[in-house]
Amino acid sequence: MQLLEATDKNIAYAAEIIKNGGLVSFPTETVYGLGADGLNPIASARIFEAKNRPAFNPLILHIADKETLGKIADWENSNVEKLIAKFWPGPLTLVLPKKKIVPEIVTAGNPTVAVRMPNHDVALKLIKLAGTPIAAPSANRFGQLSPTEAPHVVKQLKNRVDVILNGGKCEVGVESTILEITGDDIFLLRHGGLPLEEIEAVVGKVKTKPHNTAKPNSPGQLLFHYSPTIPLKFLSAATLTEYSGKRIGAIFFKKKSFDGTFALEKILSTGGDLREAAANLFAFLHEFEKENIDVILIEPVEETGLGRAIMDRLRKASNKYL
Ligand code: TXA
Ligand code: MG
Repeated sequence: MQLLEATDKNIAYAAEIIKNGGLVSFPTETVYGLGADGLNPIASARIFEAKNRPAFNPLILHIADKETLGKIADWENSNVEKLIAKFWPGPLTLVLPKKKIVPEIVTAGNPTVAVRMPNHDVALKLIKLAGTPIAAPSANRFGQLSPTEAPHVVKQLKNRVDVILNGGKCEVGVESTILEITGDDIFLLRHGGLPLEEIEAVVGKVKTKPHNTAKPNSPGQLLFHYSPTIPLKFLSAATLTEYSGKRIGAIFFKKKSFDGTFALEKILSTGGDLREAAANLFAFLHEFEKENIDVILIEPVEETGLGRAIMDRLRKASNKYL
């Protein structure tokens, strides 16, 4: 593994690695991705190996210009153009009927492909120079915390990736919002960095899909995900009693809302800003993973705007420890 600063020269070098079938971790505005040539099935297969990712879980193709979308996907729904015009580049992934050129391994055999245009200079340059859509899941081991800084990627994927481009902290900090477009319908598959309210202001009410948790078609539908290696539960009078005498790492939303002595204490956003809270969430959990504590207790946040994505990730992380 090479950890390189995301200079133009190093981005060009990383693009060559992608062209040659290698794996590059790169920053986006949401989280770091683990990228490979998305039109090369063998290169894309390496992503699944590196992450220990089950083969039923398809990958997102990242593109750098809107024209490329027409080469890999098909659609009739006129809302697609509206969504792209308004939100790309940005933290919105669209699942659309795929064209033949997209390898089956990328879509996990689905007739649809997930596509997004990241709002990050390093990612956009890398995709342009590689000259191909880059298939990239979040650059973590399957089921673990998503990386929002280059050292998080080193921790989980060291020696399983050829190059990591260090582009600093991810501004949004939670993964993209995923919408599936089928005919005239729009379904929400995962809450993420683009708030549902902003989407609905453009296309009207979005539907949700019944869950098929055995073979989910989006990680939004896996029950356990995004888990730190230390148990995580919601902070409440009950969990405080349950863990009294233990070493607790506490994460509050705006201010310390419960009295007590904690081994560690952090505040997601003193101004009560859900965007700032989302941007800090995974980084705080990565920090706590390194500490000698028995449990992470985290205060629930309001489920509006980015609060929906935050609560979705926390529920999945805590499900493992119920
Ligand atoms: O912000 C993000 O979306 C980040 C950055 C790197 O772009 N990527 C990301 O990828 O979160 P990943 O693989 O961790 O989550 C994307 C999910 C997949 O797990 C998959 O379930 C869903 O998108 N997905 C991909 N293709 C799909 C398809 N054809 N139908 C339904 N869901 C799909
Ligand atoms: Mg992921």
